[in-house]
Amino acid sequence: MLELDNVSAVRGATTIWSDGTFAVPSGSITGVIGPNGSGKTTLLLMILGLLRPGSGKITVFGQVPKRGNTRIGYVPQNYASIAGESIRARDLVLLGLTGATYGLRRTSREQHARVDQVLAEVGAGGFGDRRMSQLSGGQQQRVAIAQALVGNPRMLLLDEPLANLDVRNQQEIVDLLSRINTERGIDILLVVHDLNPLLSVLDGAIYLLDGHAHHDNVNEVVSEELLTHLYGTAIKVVRTPQGDLFTRSA
Ligand SMILES: Nc1ncnc2c1ncn2[C@@H]1O[C@H](COP(=O)(O)OP(=O)(O)O)[C@@H](O)[C@H]1O
Ligand SMILES: [Mg+2]
Repeated sequence: MLELDNVSAVRGATTIWSDGTFAVPSGSITGVIGPNGSGKTTLLLMILGLLRPGSGKITVFGQVPKRGNTRIGYVPQNYASIAGESIRARDLVLLGLTGATYGLRRTSREQHARVDQVLAEVGAGGFGDRRMSQLSGGQQQRVAIAQALVGNPRMLLLDEPLANLDVRNQQEIVDLLSRINTERGIDILLVVHDLNPLLSVLDGAIYLLDGHAHHDNVNEVVSEELLTHLYGTAIKVVRTPQGDLFTRSA
């Protein structure tokens, strides 16, 4: 459960967006959409407590966000390049348990067992011993999700997890997130540029439009008028004879 009450997002002296007042219900999968620079990453940083709202109040599960909140798992934008090329997948996931400090910290048998369990859960059991540089984009994203999940969060934030993935890998990551949402009951918020791969699993979307933050159900967001305005290019919403919804450039 995420609630914003009259929140504005400020970087430096600049207000990026304002008037964010909405509630995202527990258990939902929510897209975060908006043009480049509209403040999507900034929103995630505020939810994580890494950045304070310029004004207003954010609560996550009823509490004001605080740095180091273990109830939120986070997959940053460009995860693979941040993670480093040479680190082994399982060591990255272990960092999700022990904190981001390298060195001679002792790790327990239980922690390693937990890492194995989460790697298997995200379909990364077969490549846990490989280095990040040896993995495909889709495999790296699974490792990223494992790292975010290993501390048993109640909410997952993912910043552009589908960027640089081919259509098949996009769909596999979406299916994985949907399964995590259903089986663990975790709230999922993910920044995306294209809603299409998500339309079958999405409950709603936060959209950043004209300097304001809004939230609505997926049926309201997937509208030609809104998406055309949001992306600044004509978008058509199409329903297939099978009833599936998708959007495309007009
Ligand atoms: N560290 C920073 N200091 C000042 N301004 C920043 C910083 N990071 C980002 N910004 C600005 O904040 C705005 C929103 O950035 P961001 O949240 O990263 O957008 P998005 O994720 O939607 O592309 C951009 O205009 C960007 O230039
Ligand atoms: Mg961003």
